[in-house]
Amino acid sequence: MNAGLPEYTVRTARPEDYDAVIAVVDDWWGRPASRDLTRVFVDHFYGTSLIAEEPGGALAGFLIGFLSPSESSQAYVHFAGVAPHLRRSGLARELYERFFARAREDGRSVVKAITSPVNERSIAFHAALGFEVSEPRPDYDGPSLDRVTFRKRL
Ligand SMILES: CC(C)(COP(=O)(O)OP(=O)(O)OC[C@H]1O[C@@H](n2cnc3c(N)ncnc32)[C@H](O)[C@@H]1OP(=O)(O)O)[C@@H](O)C(=O)NCCC(=O)NCCS
Repeated sequence: MNAGLPEYTVRTARPEDYDAVIAVVDDWWGRPASRDLTRVFVDHFYGTSLIAEEPGGALAGFLIGFLSPSESSQAYVHFAGVAPHLRRSGLARELYERFFARAREDGRSVVKAITSPVNERSIAFHAALGFEVSEPRPDYDGPSLDRVTFRKRL
């Protein structure tokens, strides 16, 4: 750690962040996951998405989320990740808390997310943040695509 320097700063995303984000997803997830994060999510939801950067500008973490256009009480976190060397330092918690604050400001009362049943880190993280965690839901995202769903009241 560099004494005196912040480990990261957090800002609102911009459309052009997509390329840096998509470049790290498979590596940070440890498996192919990037096809679930298509450019449309950043192009249309950058205003409610967050980017964390290290002092030199390297991507430290990100959260791609939106205020549901159809469900007026809900907000949704589509993807969130933290660089492996920065994990367990509270960065993902900070990104989620900023997103919760944004959702509350807009009158949202529920935040939802999903993950694959193999993603034990994600399940542990969401449980630690107070999300209700479902049992794996068979074929949730189509044939053989089981998912665990998360729900938190703000
Ligand atoms: C899941 C992920 C985003 C968590 O990021 P993080 O910055 O390390 O999380 P935080 O430091 O904010 O953790 C907050 C709490 O969540 C829980 N938690 C986080 N990672 C955990 C792990 N690997 N095992 C168990 N609990 C964990 C802990 O209770 C932690 O608090 P503590 O460190 O004080 O014990 C990160 O591991 C990651 O990027 N994984 C790969 C991408 C991914 O699977 N994303 C899932 C969301 S789509």
